[in-house]
Amino acid sequence: MDIILYPALLTILCIPLVFAETKNDTQEQLSELLDSLLDKYDSKIRPGFGGEPTKIFTNIQIRSMGPISEKKMDYSMQCYFRQSWMDTRLQFSFPNITEVTLSQQILKKIWSPNTYFLNGKKSRQHNITLPNFFIRIRDDGRIYLSRRLTIEARCPMQLQKYPMDAPACPLFIGSYGFTANDIVYEWTGTTDQSVKVSDGLKMAQFDLVGIQARNGTHSTREGKVSVLEVFFHYKRHLGYYVLNIYLPCYLTVALSWVSFWINRDATPARVLLGVTTVLSTATIGITVRVGLPQVSYATALDIFFIMCFFYVFASLVQYSGVHFYTKLPAKDAKKDEKLEEENAMVVKNNDQYGRENDMLLSDGQGRMTNTIVDVENQKYRDSCWTSVWYCLSGNVGHRIRRFQTDPLAGNSVSEIDKLSRILFPLSFAFLNVIYWIVYLRDS
Ligand SMILES: *[C@@H]1O[C@H](CO)[C@@H](O)[C@H](O)[C@H]1NC(C)=O
Ligand SMILES: *[C@@H]1O[C@H](CO)[C@@H](O)[C@H](O)[C@H]1NC(C)=O
Repeated sequence: MDIILYPALLTILCIPLVFAETKNDTQEQLSELLDSLLDKYDSKIRPGFGGEPTKIFTNIQIRSMGPISEKKMDYSMQCYFRQSWMDTRLQFSFPNITEVTLSQQILKKIWSPNTYFLNGKKSRQHNITLPNFFIRIRDDGRIYLSRRLTIEARCPMQLQKYPMDAPACPLFIGSYGFTANDIVYEWTGTTDQSVKVSDGLKMAQFDLVGIQARNGTHSTREGKVSVLEVFFHYKRHLGYYVLNIYLPCYLTVALSWVSFWINRDATPARVLLGVTTVLSTATIGITVRVGLPQVSYATALDIFFIMCFFYVFASLVQYSGVHFYTKLPAKDAKKDEKLEEENAMVVKNNDQYGRENDMLLSDGQGRMTNTIVDVENQKYRDSCWTSVWYCLSGNVGHRIRRFQTDPLAGNSVSEIDKLSRILFPLSFAFLNVIYWIVYLRDS
């Protein structure tokens, strides 16, 4: 038994040793191979020096995008930046191995293109926990290089149509110093194949609506330089602006029109309404330019704001016109004397109107009549909804009936008010239709 068992046991025990041995052999052989490859390698000289330019195939996969800043006119994105090129000096043949993936140290020992972003501002490679980077060498000498980068690049924007604009942010990739005679950059394929976007890419304020990639060349002092171009086309979400500027502005303008339906004698009410709406619009105006560079031209938002402000301001000015034509009651000497007596009575009798009347007394007689009218008018009542309807439609018959019920009633509805009730909303609506047609036409 023992005689048979011992060799068997020995064999079993030795198997891992044999495997370890062969594994170590593979490692050592590969190390030796790489060392021998790099022995005579000169990393200063590009592959195929003196012959055809080295072609660098590039593609990027975008993992996340944004923010896009109008103020700084730039944008940022995080991506896998991949490049591949042929370096025949690194060809090797090794049984059963076609590709080796190596760590970053090797990069210092081999030639690699000094790619940079022509319009880059502050790009960086991610280094946590170790540089996010790999290099892979295929047995035929093709080298794959992949890095994880955050690219921050300049994006000049024309803000005339802001916020209905559609900015297109470019990224230019080229070699720092090598001309097209030495290095030619090429996208790995069509736009879809070369610039991929990870699923579920979302930006707060923009939609990525299109990508356009191009193999290009730029002319410089040294000669032609190969440059890869990619344009990211965005579309801005309007929601933020509608909620924060357009809607409040519309409501404020509509509020300023309420003044046209208020009795022309209610000076404090109408002036207060006018001034309040002007101030509110001015406050909204402060937010209009938040986050925008101080461009000297008017953006679409500026134009809208100016339009709103003009209307609110015009309603206030309109009242000054109405007030100017406010009629005083017909001068009738006897009636006046009688009125004075009555006024004195009212002042004494109505405590709650007392203060008002005191103030009005100094204003003169005409005003005091109105106070009485107000008090007397309380006698005349229509049902609530019909009153509102008469009021909104500016029903003259209604007013006449009021006069008949109360012969002391003062001014009728001003003609200016009647005109404004139609002119202001209609012209504002018309201007707005034009505004939206012009700015939404081709966006
Ligand atoms: C290579 O792979 C083949 C088939 O998988 C195998 O028969 C052979 O032993 C391997 N050679 C080496 C050196 O590992
Ligand atoms: C760039 O050039 C390469 C090689 O000629 C080609 O395969 C690729 O489709 C081109 N890409 C674009 C976006 O033009």
